[in-house]
Amino acid sequence: MKCYKHLSQIVTLAGAAAKDGRRLNPEDLHIIEDAAIVFDDETIEWVGKTADLPAQYQKLPFHRLPGHVLTPELVDSHTHLVFGGDRAEEYTERLNGVPYESIAARGGGILYTVAQTRSQTEEALFNLSVDRINQISAYGVGTIEIKSGYGLSLESERMLTKLIHRLKLHFSPKVQIINTFMAAHDRPKDFIDTADYMAKVVKPLLDELGPLKIIDAVDIFHEKNYFTTEDVKALKSVASKYQVSIKLHADELNDNDGAKLAADLDALSADHLLKVSDEGIASLAASSTVATLLPGTAFFLGKPLAPARKLLNAGAKVALASDFNPGSSHVDNVLLVASISAAQLKLNQAELWAGITLNAAHALGLKSQGAIIAGLRPRFSLFRAPGLAHITYNWGKNLSVTLP
Ligand code: NIG
Ligand code: FE
Repeated sequence: MKCYKHLSQIVTLAGAAAKDGRRLNPEDLHIIEDAAIVFDDETIEWVGKTADLPAQYQKLPFHRLPGHVLTPELVDSHTHLVFGGDRAEEYTERLNGVPYESIAARGGGILYTVAQTRSQTEEALFNLSVDRINQISAYGVGTIEIKSGYGLSLESERMLTKLIHRLKLHFSPKVQIINTFMAAHDRPKDFIDTADYMAKVVKPLLDELGPLKIIDAVDIFHEKNYFTTEDVKALKSVASKYQVSIKLHADELNDNDGAKLAADLDALSADHLLKVSDEGIASLAASSTVATLLPGTAFFLGKPLAPARKLLNAGAKVALASDFNPGSSHVDNVLLVASISAAQLKLNQAELWAGITLNAAHALGLKSQGAIIAGLRPRFSLFRAPGLAHITYNWGKNLSVTLP
């Protein structure tokens, strides 16, 4: 059993959890000042004011942590961090006026990274990914979702999904990795259309890997010139055989009714939503599908941000993630993304923190973390700061410290 005492604050998010992460006011953070907590490896036993620590815990050895803030664990619920090479040249072209879509249309973009990824050995990709995860963990992020999707062939996507599983075992339990199968990221040009690619690569590979129980979720790029609504439904039906939930890249570059499709399919999340319609917003608000916003992508592509306020006011559950990838969002720090975007997206402080803890965990199907409440799992982040505001007020400065 572990005990921390005299933390400057514990930010429990108990109010936010009670409201299922929706329609949050700043008070829903439920901040405890001069706080204490008792937990073991599996469960939070008790949390409250240090002065109220029950007699049965008084004799435990403890750490004194004044000047520190304990929050629910930071979660980056959307990354594509296993990739080879980089896209710095395309970035330069984009700065000089060439749109992302035109670069993709001439075979650059995702397909360029696929070639770079395939040219690496599995060991080289593993080592690159370990370094990236160590860096992300140093920001205080303890749960990271990783999508495959820069292989796009049977052999290469099989290798990537198994590699993400190796990363999961390597980092557990300190960093919890969620393995998302995203062979439906783009279609290599040697397939006639996406239905052909789904039939020859995505579906058979999911049927092969599904029984191994190493896939936590599936994802698909539902977008004009990428995957269709029929492809999404086909993916959902194969994933359902293995009790694996679907996530969707939805309404990023165009409004394709992706948000409504995600809600109809009971997806864990609909991600991007730069172009989501009012009808799409209403469908998400009426569902348990999390609306995951990736402001880094809009910043990096120079596009207008997603309509966060409309989603929040409608009652949707909103999360924020990095979308870390080499092309459209080359940023590995979800806390930095949230710190910069909160004012732009008009988030209050509870919406900001629920977006990178509670709601981000729910976007991965993780319902027993995301708040500091007795009975939940003890997954926290710790910051050297006198109060919560300092963490995002100091944007770009890393105040995270390792848990004692
Ligand atoms: O989430 N939208 C699809 N996939 C990535 C982009 C990947 C890339 O450009 O390499 C995204 O933005
Ligand atoms: Fe993405």
